Amino acid sequence: MNDILTIADLKARAKRRVPKMFFDYADSGAYTEGTYRANEEDFQKVKLRQRVLVDMTNRSLESEMIGQKVSMPVALAPTGLTGMQHADGEMLAAQAAEEFGVPFTLSTMSICSIEDIASVTTKPFWFQLYVMQDRDFVINLIERAKAAKCSALVLTLDLQILGQRHKDIRNGLSAPPKFTPKHIWQMATRPLWCMQMLGTKRRSFGNIVGHAKSVTDLTSLSVWTSEQFDPQLSWRDVAWIKERWGGKLILKGILDEEDARMAVSTGADAMIVSNHGGRQLDGAPSSISMLPRIVDAVGGDIEVHLDGGIRSGQDVLKALCYGAKGTYIGRPFLYGLGAGGKAGVTRALEIIRKELDITMALCGERDVRNLSRRNLHQGN
Ligand code: FNR
Repeated sequence: MNDILTIADLKARAKRRVPKMFFDYADSGAYTEGTYRANEEDFQKVKLRQRVLVDMTNRSLESEMIGQKVSMPVALAPTGLTGMQHADGEMLAAQAAEEFGVPFTLSTMSICSIEDIASVTTKPFWFQLYVMQDRDFVINLIERAKAAKCSALVLTLDLQILGQRHKDIRNGLSAPPKFTPKHIWQMATRPLWCMQMLGTKRRSFGNIVGHAKSVTDLTSLSVWTSEQFDPQLSWRDVAWIKERWGGKLILKGILDEEDARMAVSTGADAMIVSNHGGRQLDGAPSSISMLPRIVDAVGGDIEVHLDGGIRSGQDVLKALCYGAKGTYIGRPFLYGLGAGGKAGVTRALEIIRKELDITMALCGERDVRNLSRRNLHQGN
C-alpha cells in the first residue's frame, strides 16, 4: 500500500480488482451524475487562507462527534452492499475504523449483519436505519441495534423512493437482479475477488434475510426491498423512531434550510448535510455549497455534519471551517476496501489524516477544533 498516496490511487486499484457491476455500484450517481460530480468539484472552489510564522508544533486532530471522542472528525458513512466490494467488507471496515478511532456506520442494506459487526468489534458502532413500510421489521432492527450496543442511530431521510442509477440498471442490479453471461464473465476475470467470496458465507443482506416477513432468498428479497421504502415517511415518524430508540439520533439527508430547522425541532443530536452522495436527487446542489447556509440557519442548536464528495483531508478541513462538527466518507473507504480489504480502508483513513494535519498546519492552526471561517480565503 506504500505506493498508494491518494484516494484516486485507491480507486484505480479497486477498479482493477472488483467486478464491474459492483465497482460501478459504488462509483455511480443518479441520472446525469451532475450532483455526484458537483459534490467533488465544489470543494475546489473553496480557497484556504495561508498563514506563516505561527507555531505549528503539538498539533491535534482529536475531536468529538455527538459527544463521542474521535481521533479525527471523519466517520465511515453507511453504504449498502459493502460486502460485495470485498468479502466480509463491513466487518473489515468496522475493524479498521475501530483501530483508527473513528466511528463506523453500518447500513440497513449491508451484507454483514448487526450481529456480525458486534462479533468482531469491541467498541460501539453506529447503525443506519431506513424506515421500511413493514414497521415490525423497523422495530426489530432498532431492538437488534440496541442489543448490539450501537451508540448512535443514523436515520436516513432522503430515500423515500430510490433514485435512478443508470449504471446499476444496465449492470442488472435491479429488482429482480438480472445476471447474464456478461456478469459471470466480469466476476470470472476477478479471480481474487471470486476466491474471497467463495470463502465467506455472507453474500446476502444480513439485516433483512430471515428477519423481515416473507424474505427468505434472493428473489423474495429483491421484491421486498423494491416495495418497502416508504413514500409516506413524515416528521411524525422521526418522532416515533426517536422515542423508540431512546439514544443518540443523527438525521441524514438534510440539504435545505427549512428542513434543517425542522430537524432541530425534532430534538435530534445531529444532522448530516447530505444528498446521498449524488445518488438520489440529481440536480440538487452539492453538500459543501449548502453547508454554510444550513449552519447559519440552525445556529448552534444542533450539531451539523457533512458528507458527499470528500476525497482528501483538505476537503474535511474546508467542511470544518464552515462549521461542520464532523464529516463522513463513503466512496473513499469503499475504494480502499476493494483495493485491499481492511488495509485499504486503513490506508484511506491515513491519507485523509495526513492531508488534514499538514493542511491545518499550513493554515496556521494547531487544533482541529479551532478551525473556522477565518481560515478560509475570502474574495477572489
Ligand atoms: C451510499 N449511501 C447510503 N446512505 C445510507 O444512508 N444508507 C445506505 O445504505 C447507503 N448506501 C450507499 C451505497 C453506496 C455504494 C454509496 C456510494 C453511498 C450514501 C452514503 O452514506 C453517503 O451519503 C455518501 O456516500 C457520501 O458521499 P461520498 O463520500 O461517497 O462522496
